Amino acid sequence: MATNRTFTMLKPDAVRKGYIGAILEQITASGFRIVAMKLTELTTADAKEFYAVHKERPFYGELVDYMTSGPIVAAILEKENAVEDFRTLIGATNPEEAAEGTIRKKYATSISENAVHGSDSDENAAIEGAFHFSGREQF
Ligand code: PPS
Repeated sequence: MATNRTFTMLKPDAVRKGYIGAILEQITASGFRIVAMKLTELTTADAKEFYAVHKERPFYGELVDYMTSGPIVAAILEKENAVEDFRTLIGATNPEEAAEGTIRKKYATSISENAVHGSDSDENAAIEGAFHFSGREQF
């Protein structure tokens, strides 16, 4: 059964460029409720663990280096059909392929610096949310 929650990170490029406010505005205007949020950063060990599923992929090292290059915003979002609707809102992984109006189309610069993460399943949303937030930090 769908859990109605997803997990997101506003990635280091988006934070560096000052897009936090604009991206959060688009997220909440699209019907998502923020149930947990913080400005934080990933250690190398954190990033390796978070992206362990991709460790055999050629870009793994680059992805870990990038995700540890500066602060991120981590958040848990709630909405009916949250995982799928959020993936639609952010657009394709490669911003060149993302639909007009999506967050990646508007704020991402490349497939590696693509502004935002969205969980790809309810199961991963729960795992990724718990990676960053205790139960007491979720409202
Ligand atoms: S997804 O969301 O899992 O379907 O996308 P996927 O294409 O499998 O990519 C998984 C994460 O790896 C990032 N990525 C890359 N980083 C650097 N270089 C290249 N070439 C590259 N391709 C994909 C992509 O942004 C995904 O990160 P997250 O944080 O999951 O969005």
